[in-house]
Amino acid sequence: MALFDREPGPTTDEYATGDAATRALSVTVVENDFVERVYEKLAKIYDFTFGPTLHPGRLEAIEKMAIRPGHSVLEVGVGTGINLGLYPRDCAVTGIDLSRPMLDKARERVARKDLVNCRVLEMDAASMSFPDEAFDIVYAPYLISVVPDPVKVAREMRRVCRAGGRIMILNHFKSTNPILSRIETAISPLTVHIGFKADLDLQGFLTQAELEPLAIDKVNIPRMWTLVTCKN
Ligand SMILES: C[S@@+](CC[C@H](N)C(=O)[O-])C[C@H]1O[C@@H](n2cnc3c(N)ncnc32)[C@H](O)[C@@H]1O
Repeated sequence: MALFDREPGPTTDEYATGDAATRALSVTVVENDFVERVYEKLAKIYDFTFGPTLHPGRLEAIEKMAIRPGHSVLEVGVGTGINLGLYPRDCAVTGIDLSRPMLDKARERVARKDLVNCRVLEMDAASMSFPDEAFDIVYAPYLISVVPDPVKVAREMRRVCRAGGRIMILNHFKSTNPILSRIETAISPLTVHIGFKADLDLQGFLTQAELEPLAIDKVNIPRMWTLVTCKN
């Protein structure tokens, strides 16, 4: 099946994950098996299609993380490992992802670039096997609009981040411009087929996830993506 062919993908409430308030954050509902099928197809072309355009945001996020020597960083939704070479070598990076084909690419990258400070693991961001407060920094680049229940994932991110640690979320959220937001809501059931929901509501998400941002910056060109920096 071609990458952009429509395939059965849950888009109605009967498949809903999370509570009603969480489901109201986007008109589009997905489940993990649907997401896995999408990323199985994307794995081979991800770095070419989502690499360069989304890269300024990745660089800005790493800069704002204020990583210090010895810090432990968790990257949630590590994908092909496109960020792994950007971290300082004197911090320890753990990347998790649900998709095996994406992780295979990440493992190839770790070996090819000799990234001895990085490890990648297969794990669901909504149910992590790490103990509480295991990391200094927990970072989700371009993940939160991909998962079935973004609030559950954010709560897990808070749980595994130490008190006073940094939580960073880099993502596209629904525009505050009424015309753009209508377009994003309309196309969201389609954009999930290329890996993300276009209409995730930022304020609703932050409130439900009980995240209090230190900074909210617009990133990438056009500046349609958002970098949210929070202290845990
Ligand atoms: C848009 S890609 C982001 C990849 C990378 N972080 C980047 O900067 O480009 C989203 C990744 O999240 C992963 N993902 C989706 N749902 C997940 C979940 N529940 N748990 C862990 N990873 C998940 C996908 O498999 C995919 O690799």
